[in-house]
Amino acid sequence: MKSKSVEDSKVSMSVVMMPQHANPAGNVHGGEIMKIMDNTAGVVARRHARTNIVTARVDEMEFHQPIRVGDVVTCYGELTFAGKSSMEVSVTVTVEDLSKEEPALTALTAFFTLVSLDADGHPQAVPALAAKSEAERCAFAEGYRRYLAYKLQRKNTN
Ligand SMILES: CC(C)(COP(=O)(O)OP(=O)(O)OC[C@H]1O[C@@H](n2cnc3c(N)ncnc32)[C@H](O)[C@@H]1OP(=O)(O)O)[C@@H](O)C(=O)NCCC(=O)NCCS
Repeated sequence: MKSKSVEDSKVSMSVVMMPQHANPAGNVHGGEIMKIMDNTAGVVARRHARTNIVTARVDEMEFHQPIRVGDVVTCYGELTFAGKSSMEVSVTVTVEDLSKEEPALTALTAFFTLVSLDADGHPQAVPALAAKSEAERCAFAEGYRRYLAYKLQRKNTN
C-alpha cells in the first residue's frame, strides 16, 4: 500500500456557534465542540484510510477559552501517527469573535485515535504515514510513544 503524507488528509472546518449550541447565558456546551472535533478527526482519518472508521480513544481535553454564541469555531485536524489499523489525529480548535478586530485564539488541542474497519467491522490496515518535515517527524515520534503506552495500558487492564 502506498504511503501518504500529512498534507494528503489535512482538514479545517469552521462552524458559527448558534443558540442551540449553548446554555441560556450564551456559553457553548463543551460537548458541541467535542462533536465538531470528532467530525474533523473522522474526515482526516477517512481521507487517509478511505475506509469506514471508528473513534477508539479521545485524549484529555481542557478548554482554555470561553466560546460564545456568534463566535466562529475552527477545527484544524491533521494526522500525527499511523499504526497498522489505527491512526492518531491532532485536532486544534480556535475561536474568533467576528465583532472584534482580533486574531482567533486557540481554545484547545486534543488527540483522537481512530481505527480503520473492513466491511465485516474488523480492523483493517491503513497506508503508512510519510512524515516529511522536522515538525511532522517529531509529532510522529510522540504519537508512536502514546500508541505504545495505550497498547500497554490496554494489555494491563484486559
Ligand atoms: C476500536 C475497535 C474496533 C478495536 O477493536 P479490537 O478488536 O480491540 O482491535 P485490536 O485490539 O486489534 O486493535 C486494533 C487497533 O486499534 C488500536 N486500539 C484499539 N483500541 C484502542 C484504544 N482504546 N485506544 C487506542 N488505540 C486502540 C490498537 O492499538 C490497534 O492499533 P494498530 O492496528 O495500529 O496496531 C473496537 O474496540 C470498537 O469497535 N470499539 C467501538 C468504537 C466505536 O464504536 N466508537 C464510537 C463510539 S460511539
